[in-house]
Amino acid sequence: MTESFMHRLREEIMPLHDEAEKLGPLSKIPEKKVTLEDYKRMLERLYGFVSVAEDAIEAQINGQCAELDYESRKRIGYLEKDLIFLGSSTGSIAQLPLCDHITYVQTLADALGVLYLFEGSRLGGLVLSKALRERFGFVEYRGYAYFGSNGLEVAAMWASFKDFMENYVERHGEGDKIINSAKKCFVLLNEWLVAV
Ligand code: HEM
Repeated sequence: MTESFMHRLREEIMPLHDEAEKLGPLSKIPEKKVTLEDYKRMLERLYGFVSVAEDAIEAQINGQCAELDYESRKRIGYLEKDLIFLGSSTGSIAQLPLCDHITYVQTLADALGVLYLFEGSRLGGLVLSKALRERFGFVEYRGYAYFGSNGLEVAAMWASFKDFMENYVERHGEGDKIINSAKKCFVLLNEWLVAV
């Protein structure tokens, strides 16, 4: 049986994932060493990346891929909600530094590679949510709306995303382009987050 595209994609990004999960700043969360100040700083850095990444994805999707319902997958609003819960103002959020290295996203395949990272990251987000609730006593997605996908059905969203990606690659090819973009974006994200 031929290996599925999503299986191949997973194999290719796992070394970078392990780096983020074991060595990156987010690894402090499950280890429960995180302070509220550390956590807020991580959200601020994520904000500076996700904000640019979502705009770049949207510009390439540009009304295509209706079955993805991209609008419902955007999470920048949850980062804003969490930062405001932790004491930021909309004015201070608007001043946060933005990552200016995501300019390479110039095609739909590039955009799907980036989207894959953030859709997949919802799975780990649930692990981080549990740790955050235990550590800080957060409830009802207040303070962890981003990592908790604000209570959306993560398993179903991931399953439909994977189906979309398999169908896309079957119809259009471009698997290598998607994989290259996902890897490039993960490297950039890891570098960006380390500068917390
Ligand atoms: C401490 C940080 C993290 C933890 C604990 C974590 C944990 C997890 C877990 C438990 C899974 C699902 C289980 C599995 O398929 O093996 C997963 C999948 C995934 N995570 Fe993370 N993760 C973290 C950081 C990140 C980051 C920063 C990203 C990138 C934005 C990311 C992207 C992904 C992707 C793309 C998948 C899906 C892999 C696939 O099956 O194709 N993760 N993560």
